[in-house]
Amino acid sequence: LQLKVSQIKHNTKDYNKTLELRNEILRKPLNLDIKNDDIYDEDQHIHFGIIQEDKALGVVVLVPHYQNKVGKLRQMATAEEVRGKGYGKALVKALENYALKHGMSTILLHSRFYAVDFYLKLGYEICSEPFEEVGIEHFKMKKMLSE
Ligand SMILES: CC(C)(COP(=O)(O)OP(=O)(O)OC[C@H]1O[C@@H](n2cnc3c(N)ncnc32)[C@H](O)[C@@H]1OP(=O)(O)O)[C@@H](O)C(=O)NCCC(=O)NCCS
Repeated sequence: LQLKVSQIKHNTKDYNKTLELRNEILRKPLNLDIKNDDIYDEDQHIHFGIIQEDKALGVVVLVPHYQNKVGKLRQMATAEEVRGKGYGKALVKALENYALKHGMSTILLHSRFYAVDFYLKLGYEICSEPFEEVGIEHFKMKKMLSE
């Protein structure tokens, strides 16, 4: 199976599908709602999704900081029914390729403690003490793309 990662345009039907997935996977389990996130500036971000049969099965968002050549990876989620099949990896790779092409040499992210091993496998390293965000223990992680 060839996984197709698409770049998702802001405020389109597909964008709304990825928002729904983010809400299901990253917000509802914490009794939060994506409607209360600050998403007003998301037109500035680069959205990636895996859409199959009209459903978003994976999502990740790149926040570009072109001036310091840094990209921030956020809102990484795959649907439960497709976990462990390479969807997450394909999304991160697509984000990294985009970042490199657009002059970013470092990716930074905040990983929930239970996703750290996922990012380690993809070449990220831990670069902070644990800290709390949305009530969950997180670690800052980074990867130099130019290495
Ligand atoms: C973390 C998450 C994005 C991984 O997505 P996925 O589609 O299952 O990932 P992949 O199938 O591409 O996995 C890539 C590799 O990482 C491994 N892996 C995936 N999740 C892992 C985890 N939580 N811990 C350890 N290894 C993990 C896979 O086994 C696979 O290994 P392989 O390359 O040796 O086969 C997904 O589990 C998820 O959405 N979790 C809930 C939300 C979340 O935690 N998001 C991250 C917030 S920081």
